[in-house]
Amino acid sequence: MTHTIRKATADDAGRLAGLAAVTFPLACPPESSPADIAAHLAATLSEENFRSYLADPGITVLVIDSDGDLRGYSMLVDRPAGDPDVAAALTALPATELSKCYVHPDHHGLGAAAELMHASLGEAAAAGARGMWLGVNSQNAKAIRFYEKSGFRKVGTKSFTLGTTVEHDFVMEQALPHPQARTDT
Ligand SMILES: CC(C)(COP(=O)(O)OP(=O)(O)OC[C@H]1O[C@@H](n2cnc3c(N)ncnc32)[C@H](O)[C@@H]1OP(=O)(O)O)[C@@H](O)C(=O)NCCC(=O)NCCS
Repeated sequence: MTHTIRKATADDAGRLAGLAAVTFPLACPPESSPADIAAHLAATLSEENFRSYLADPGITVLVIDSDGDLRGYSMLVDRPAGDPDVAAALTALPATELSKCYVHPDHHGLGAAAELMHASLGEAAAAGARGMWLGVNSQNAKAIRFYEKSGFRKVGTKSFTLGTTVEHDFVMEQALPHPQARTDT
């Protein structure tokens, strides 16, 4: 796959919603109801939702663009964690949230997710964050493994409501290098 990783623009909102509709169900526990998944997609991952994320100065969306096809995306939220369980667990501050990290299933296991993660960590560090954190469903073993491989470790738990069900997420974080710590000798 030849692709680039770039910041998303307002023009990507429709394609991001299409990609989210394919990838969000993959992150849900097997017992999640299709109705709850559809409601979550409509409420938080619609084209209109993506338009507002892309217009929010505290949010950065990175996409894997393969000749105009979006094959993955990440969403970085640069504001203090609102959830008190998360705020209490984090040690590397200020921290950016990796709020979403999704790759099209045709590209799982091929290194694309690692490239997206590398770009996401670099983007947060360049913006001055000293840590990155994320919430991942405790049953999503593949994503947890991927995040561990990417340098995250479990630091706590939080709850997440999907429709009528309360899901339990692990909170994971990693410290980011200070941009000025790089040596340019
Ligand atoms: C999470 C995601 C971005 C990772 O990308 P990927 O290309 O699949 O990741 P990788 O193949 O590099 O790593 C996955 C690891 O999990 C392992 N794995 C796969 N299935 C697994 C399972 N059921 N249980 C435990 N580990 C599993 C793989 O073997 C691999 O580890 P390894 O390299 O040590 O062998 C991608 O799978 C994805 O988009 N998933 C759907 C959406 C999602 O869950 N997003 C995260 C929401 S928080």
